[in-house]
Amino acid sequence: MREIVRDNIDKNEFLVHRSVFTDKEILAHERKEIFSKCWLFIGHETEVANKGDYKRKKVGGRNLLFVRSQDEELRVLYNTCPHRGALVCREDEGNSRVFRCFYHAWSFTNDGKLAGMPGKDGFQMILMMRARKI
Ligand code: FES
Repeated sequence: MREIVRDNIDKNEFLVHRSVFTDKEILAHERKEIFSKCWLFIGHETEVANKGDYKRKKVGGRNLLFVRSQDEELRVLYNTCPHRGALVCREDEGNSRVFRCFYHAWSFTNDGKLAGMPGKDGFQMILMMRARKI
């Protein structure tokens, strides 16, 4: 096993190998063991001061939206469409009551609820057909 941290108190030496900043395996381990288990800073409330203000953020490898919703609550939403995983918001910041996925136009209120789904009736028929096969 390679040595990535050398802490030598006698020599008053603390060295970290450069690979900790570039190694994908170490990054994946950090995300799993650190960033998925603790509170993370996403921003200050003044960044989204008004109803509908939002900022896109990437924290711990996750695409997120930092939002002040219409009820003035601060929220953090996954910027990922539950349909097929596309980004729901592609602008870095702005103000909006609704986020609409560009892929198939599912839309979500800025508190994260599903607001609209084009062709919803057709979707239910497909889901019902699949349910019958099971
Ligand atoms: S992937 Fe978002 S609506 Fe289909």
